[in-house]
Amino acid sequence: MTRINCYPLLAILLICSISATGQKTKLEVDVTHSIAEIQPTMYGIFFEDINFAADGGVYAEMIKNRGFEFDNPKMGWQQPNSNSYGFNKKSGIANIIKSGTDTSSNNFCRVSIENDSGYVLINEGFRGMGIKKNAKYRFSLMAKNSKLAIQKVRIHFVDETGQVLGECSITPAARDWETYTATLVATETNPKVVLKITFEGTGVIDLDNISLFPVNTWKGRENGLREDIVQLLADLQPGFLRFPGGCIVEGRTLAQRYQWKKTVGPLWDRTLLINRWNTEFGHRPTPDYFQSFGLGFFEYFQLAEDLGAEPLPILGCGMACQFNTGELVPLADLDPYVQDALDLIEFANGPADSPWGQVRNSMGHPEPFNMKYIGIGNEQWGPEYIERYAIFEKAIKEQYPDIVIISSSGPFPEGDFFEYGTSELKKLDAEIIDEHYYNTPEWFRDNATRYDDYVRGGAKIFAGEYAAQSVRTTSPENKNNWECALSEAAFMTGLERNADLVVMTSYAPLLAHQEGWQWTPNLIWFNNLEAYGTANYYVQKLFSNHRGNELLAISTFDGKVVAGENNLFASSVKDTHSGEIFVKLVNTSDKKKQLEIDIKNQKLAGTATALILSSDQLTDENSFENLKKIIPQESELSTINNQLSLEIDPFTFMVIKIGLE
Ligand code: AHR
Repeated sequence: MTRINCYPLLAILLICSISATGQKTKLEVDVTHSIAEIQPTMYGIFFEDINFAADGGVYAEMIKNRGFEFDNPKMGWQQPNSNSYGFNKKSGIANIIKSGTDTSSNNFCRVSIENDSGYVLINEGFRGMGIKKNAKYRFSLMAKNSKLAIQKVRIHFVDETGQVLGECSITPAARDWETYTATLVATETNPKVVLKITFEGTGVIDLDNISLFPVNTWKGRENGLREDIVQLLADLQPGFLRFPGGCIVEGRTLAQRYQWKKTVGPLWDRTLLINRWNTEFGHRPTPDYFQSFGLGFFEYFQLAEDLGAEPLPILGCGMACQFNTGELVPLADLDPYVQDALDLIEFANGPADSPWGQVRNSMGHPEPFNMKYIGIGNEQWGPEYIERYAIFEKAIKEQYPDIVIISSSGPFPEGDFFEYGTSELKKLDAEIIDEHYYNTPEWFRDNATRYDDYVRGGAKIFAGEYAAQSVRTTSPENKNNWECALSEAAFMTGLERNADLVVMTSYAPLLAHQEGWQWTPNLIWFNNLEAYGTANYYVQKLFSNHRGNELLAISTFDGKVVAGENNLFASSVKDTHSGEIFVKLVNTSDKKKQLEIDIKNQKLAGTATALILSSDQLTDENSFENLKKIIPQESELSTINNQLSLEIDPFTFMVIKIGLE
């Protein structure tokens, strides 16, 4: 009887002996035979401002509608003691002044105080504000106190009972616009405070850009990102960061498309835009969803740099979302759109004294971001896309031949749009084609062989958006359950086995606010205090953290790939830097499986480590109540005669790390 080391607490993985009765699956890995290089970009992240991912999410601003620029400019603000139908002699009232024709960035708030003991202005935050005991929060506002009528502005965190949980004040000493800052320290932890502003004095004061950030943001930046959420992203060790989406790139209409130039430069000059997910789904309306662009293109590039990920911006190509209006820019008028792409490359990579490099420089980044990839169009389809794509391709390649262009095969992984798009793109020598799949868990298990027979030698594949849907795509009932995550793991072994062709992959969407979401499932869920990775997140993390750099063949002894037969899936890679091999195994059945893995042609260093992701029920999920229900468990195992014998539990994904001598 062959034995491996036994750790009773982790019996879910390793029954330590090979049963005499069970049928054993024998696999072999040839360590000396590298099939392909695994690209560092193999596992990345797809960021879209959906589900309050940016404002109200990773962008750490806590004030909603800080500049009074929403369509309803008082949205998010309350004046509990004021009445629009009276003179408010016992309090006061705020009015919004629109100072220019561009209604998107010129509003400010004029507060007229009749009785300072009665007037209160409240910001509700993004479904409240989460504060942590003893943490510091940086408050700032711009004020114009023309007649010096107001002596003090007082700021308070207030809970649902009216209790004050932190306060500070500013003295608005200038008659003209001036920025004031102050720090609040939270006296309690609370997930749902509001910010109450009161005044000392009677008369008028003008306010704008009222802002509140935790002092502890990611890397301590003032216009910063939420530390806990970015840490979850960093832990994925992503090879690339795709931004800013998704359909948000295209807009419901052309006018509402994402325009990167309006998201860079001084913060208060960035032009607010409605978020296209605002009213997309009748079942999840979020009328208070806008894009302040505090997280704009500069910040995305900076985040990619922080994460050690290749930046991958996706630009609109003169087509509004084809699921919505599908508005098209005439080909003759496409130049400004193409110019946006060329200018973006200059913004990212140009010298600090070039016109757009200068903008980057002025934002504190004289060095180029070394952007290598650009995406043209999101989920576009049809001849209208191909003719527009061809124009972009020509212009970009003429000026920047080394930039790799990502093109779109449309929203579905098969069918007319897909067939037409991919064949036309190949005629144009497309380099990397983006494929999207939102489908049932079963589809993911069945498609582990999807790329095995793809023609090689042409375009590479970017599996740019995928997620198993427990009910159906866009159903609000979809769950991030274990069946979905496990099925994605099975599918990902197929992506990895084809790493000569598939060079980038990303789950989508990435982030969702517990109370502000439109789309489910998502990789990471957060509220105003906490964030957690789903089971799907840990699947991504296990693949990404063990991506290796050389693809190895793992097969049955009769030479077949392990891609679903007997409900087993497997892939294997080598990391020549750490001197390890990583074997990924997935058992999607409700039965234990006994395995023997023969590592050929290289001596092993005696022990191996298994990282096991498993759960008893396919309906199990992580949640705010149980953040870590499904997380990897670690176990040691030993190798004998260059062989591993193990038993893999039902519904289990594991990565085995094996040291080479
Ligand atoms: O990930 C959500 C949406 O799904 C994306 O915005 C779009 O590209 C796809 O249809």
